Amino acid sequence: MKKRLFIAGHTGMVGASLLREVVRTGSYLPVLATRRELDLRDASAVKLFMEEQRPDVVIFAAAKVGGILSNSTFPADFLYDNLVLATNIVQASFQTGVQRLLFLGSSCIYPKFAPQPIPEDALLSGALEETNEAYAIAKIAGLKLCAAYRKQHGVLFHSAMPTNLYGEGDNYHPDHSHVIPGLLHRFHAAKEGGLPEVAIWGSGTPCREFLYVDDLASACLHLLTLKNPPDWINVGYGSDVSILDLAKAVARTVGYEGRIVLDSDKPDGTPKKLLDSSLLRATGWSPKVPLEEGLGRAYEAYKTARASGQLRAV
Ligand SMILES: NC(=O)c1ccc[n+]([C@@H]2O[C@H](COP(=O)([O-])OP(=O)(O)OC[C@H]3O[C@@H](n4cnc5c(N)ncnc54)[C@H](OP(=O)(O)O)[C@@H]3O)[C@@H](O)[C@H]2O)c1
Repeated sequence: MKKRLFIAGHTGMVGASLLREVVRTGSYLPVLATRRELDLRDASAVKLFMEEQRPDVVIFAAAKVGGILSNSTFPADFLYDNLVLATNIVQASFQTGVQRLLFLGSSCIYPKFAPQPIPEDALLSGALEETNEAYAIAKIAGLKLCAAYRKQHGVLFHSAMPTNLYGEGDNYHPDHSHVIPGLLHRFHAAKEGGLPEVAIWGSGTPCREFLYVDDLASACLHLLTLKNPPDWINVGYGSDVSILDLAKAVARTVGYEGRIVLDSDKPDGTPKKLLDSSLLRATGWSPKVPLEEGLGRAYEAYKTARASGQLRAV
């Protein structure tokens, strides 16, 4: 009989991709609840839901997520919500006999000046990036909570730390979106408006790593098959791209033929941020979606969402 998999946060970008992958592979019976049906901040409601639904496996893809601006304006909300979500899901999973739980964190758990590429053991070796410290602290607590339950109670609760993600279901808010949806939106608008140039922030030289969200979903299902996974493992594409080359790739994807100019007065941020994903590669998983293909898929999803009035901009 198929195992029952609760995907917490299945309406989000990652959760929706996980659901598509579960349906495509037929690997589990999905157990789902929207936020209206189950507010994950409510501990007793979460426990009741788990008692009624009895999932065998849980993937924790729910989180209060936001950009630098909302993170630094509302640090209490980011810390409180994400801590409570993690403790509620982990404790209710333990109490209701869940066999296995995969907790999703983020590469922001690593110190600001971690060695590059960032290995798993860089965790807690230095100060965090100040702008998303509250979010990172909650994710570190969640990861450590899983490891502690595993150590003390022998349950297979473990974590995955994805790099920057992009793809279908991304957030296109003008102020709060991540790099790729931000660029796709701006180049699309420039093409539609016939603008002669698009400016990108800084020198264009900082390098960043991006993973198509469906690759993360396949990595998560792969991790659930490992007999003895590490307490936390990096999930990255394995190589990075400069912001200028990324902007050029986005322009090609969108069909924008104007100029790309550098707004060098704007700050650059850290020069490089790349995860060391060799541990995951050694378990037999690798990403399938190269950047140009992923950008094409993300752009198609963007146009479809726009045309149906369902573009996400929160
Ligand atoms: N996006 C990235 O680039 C990225 C990179 C690395 C790691 N990750 C990690 O991946 C995970 C998922 O991220 P995402 O990009 O998919 O975020 P997302 O699109 O914002 O989705 C978050 C999900 O959590 C749900 N949620 C939040 N608070 C809830 C609550 N109180 N009760 C019930 N549901 C709640 C949301 O429901 P609603 O739809 O109702 O709001 C949504 O389904 C996070 O842990 C994040 O750190 C993301």
